[in-house]
Amino acid sequence: MSDRIYYVTTPIYYPSDKLHIGHAYTTVAADCIARYKRMRGYDVFFLTGSDEHGQKIERTALDSGTDPQSYVDGIVESFRELWKKLLITNDDFIRTTEPRHKKAVQALFQKLYDKGDIYKSFYEGMYCTPCEAFWLERQLIDGNCPDCGRPVEHVKEESYFFKMSKYQNRLLQYIEENPDFIQPVSRRHEMVNFIKGGLEDLCVSRTTFQWGVPVPFAPGHVVYVWFDALVNYLSALGWQDGDPRFEHYWPHTVHMMAKDIVRFHSVIWPIVLMAADIPLPRTIFGHGWLLLEGGKMSKSKGNVVDPLVLIDRYGVDTVRYYLLRELPYGDDSYYSEDDLINRINTDLANDLGNLISRTLGMVQKYQDNVVAEAGTPQGPDNDLINCAMQVKDELEQHMERLDFSNALAAIWKLVRRSNRYVDETAPWNLKRDPNKKERLQTVLYNLSEAVRILTIWCSPFMPVFPERVFEQFGIAGRRDLQTWDSTGEWGLLPSDLRIETGPGVFPRIEVERDKEKTVEGKKPPKEKPQKPQITIDDFTKVDLRVALVKDAEKIKGTDRLLKLELDLGSETRTVVAGIAQQYTPDSLVGKRVVIVANLAPVKLRGVTSRGMILAAGEGDRLGVLTVEREIPPGTRIE
Ligand code: MSP
Repeated sequence: MSDRIYYVTTPIYYPSDKLHIGHAYTTVAADCIARYKRMRGYDVFFLTGSDEHGQKIERTALDSGTDPQSYVDGIVESFRELWKKLLITNDDFIRTTEPRHKKAVQALFQKLYDKGDIYKSFYEGMYCTPCEAFWLERQLIDGNCPDCGRPVEHVKEESYFFKMSKYQNRLLQYIEENPDFIQPVSRRHEMVNFIKGGLEDLCVSRTTFQWGVPVPFAPGHVVYVWFDALVNYLSALGWQDGDPRFEHYWPHTVHMMAKDIVRFHSVIWPIVLMAADIPLPRTIFGHGWLLLEGGKMSKSKGNVVDPLVLIDRYGVDTVRYYLLRELPYGDDSYYSEDDLINRINTDLANDLGNLISRTLGMVQKYQDNVVAEAGTPQGPDNDLINCAMQVKDELEQHMERLDFSNALAAIWKLVRRSNRYVDETAPWNLKRDPNKKERLQTVLYNLSEAVRILTIWCSPFMPVFPERVFEQFGIAGRRDLQTWDSTGEWGLLPSDLRIETGPGVFPRIEVERDKEKTVEGKKPPKEKPQKPQITIDDFTKVDLRVALVKDAEKIKGTDRLLKLELDLGSETRTVVAGIAQQYTPDSLVGKRVVIVANLAPVKLRGVTSRGMILAAGEGDRLGVLTVEREIPPGTRIE
């Protein structure tokens, strides 16, 4: 079995409505890993599509006065447009109403029937139409669907059943022997508990509506929509036609989805495959949800965010970056436009964008647009180079686990290290001393090389800006200098490159101006009157110190508070600051801030804060006071 083949799938989404930013997350994540694997030399097949049958779609279409096929045709078009705008590089788009898919569903259903694993009986129980899921009375919560909380319907009809119970132990054993099958590990535990609770045989046909794939041997029955939908992963590869692509890509398969549908993929799907003697996919990966105030986004709650609006407003790279950075591995996260703007302004404009434009600007100004040859490494050079090599390893490990947020956090370690390198080497001083010409060349070479490497690493996440950076550095035509492997070796950037400066790649979002357009009732900042006069003695009572931020994290359960670990020279202090809406924890690490060191301690959300960091402004316009030079931590400000 070759290990350089990779088949990645998203769920096929219901075309009952337009897609929102939550759906966009899964598809962007799948696209990111597909792009990454291609860069690593894998033969990738990336699939997405639409799940068009079932009672929900039939009802929605009829309610809107259209027939189901015309209804879904319109919405599926909007899916394709969204994926195009998000620069999704799927190799195929499967629709469950296509003949190739129907053929596969019928063939698989027939196969399991012939084998004796599907039998006719009578179903009486509960059904959740929005989730298209069967439930037993005892599984309901307050009489509602345990997954979505909405009311269920009583269903009573002749049905075909699939012998799930027969495979319960085999599935448990498989999960035990293949610990990477269900990821992350928390999802595996949930599923193991669920299966141990006992599997009932599954109702796999319906007779009370028509919108589905007909059961080949039983007129009046349509195949249960989840059975139908899951088969898309086979039908798109041509399993039903003996297509060699099936042999080639299956089972090097990773199914990506959110946690809501992990149960269907890690219980029903593997058992269907086992019964059909088809090997199981390698991984079922269930990420968390992107939530909005009021819980999970859903059209019926009226709390959805349209990704197209965000792309038009902020650009595709930034929306992709925000999604991939913000959702922590396996966990949920809240969406907010303020966080999105904050990410753009801090991570992209301040950190990465600034590094790129500073580097280009200095090459232009100090070396007449030429990146010259580097001399022998000295000072912080080796530290910068080692940081790049370590980050590469870390980044690759995170990508293997599909941990996109930490992968980006790793990349940003080199972004921050490089920015610090600028401060440490102070090229503006080197420029003043004619004896330091070679040193200046070395520093600017190293910065340019760091930018090249960072740009390559970022490209699976943000596919637009790299081309511009490569152009500005004069290596647009040099594909060999844009490969993943080329980031494993420092110093591949040729010397005597002519750069071309252009507009910054990540402009800041001017919050006030934009907010005026989008948020109603925003007031201008209030003028604050001057406080009463004090003497110098009053002032010297305040012990202000330089503190170096060693670590920062969000305090759980709050939107505003960050817990900072500060180096004060002779001690480390914990300080709580209400700046989480303006600063991500990572963006503060390494900054030299100013603190009131002799303030009486206070306890905030269970954390004792020993001091206060100084900041100016409020709301979107808040900025922490920092010290310009490398003043040692603990130095008193007088
Ligand atoms: N049609 C089924 C899937 C069949 S796959 C064989 C379905 N469709 S869906 O349109 O409801 O999409 C559910 C999926 O959309 C989730 O599993 C997840 O991938 C994505 N998301 C929908 N809302 C989301 C969030 N709020 N947050 C994160 N992902 C979200 O279920």
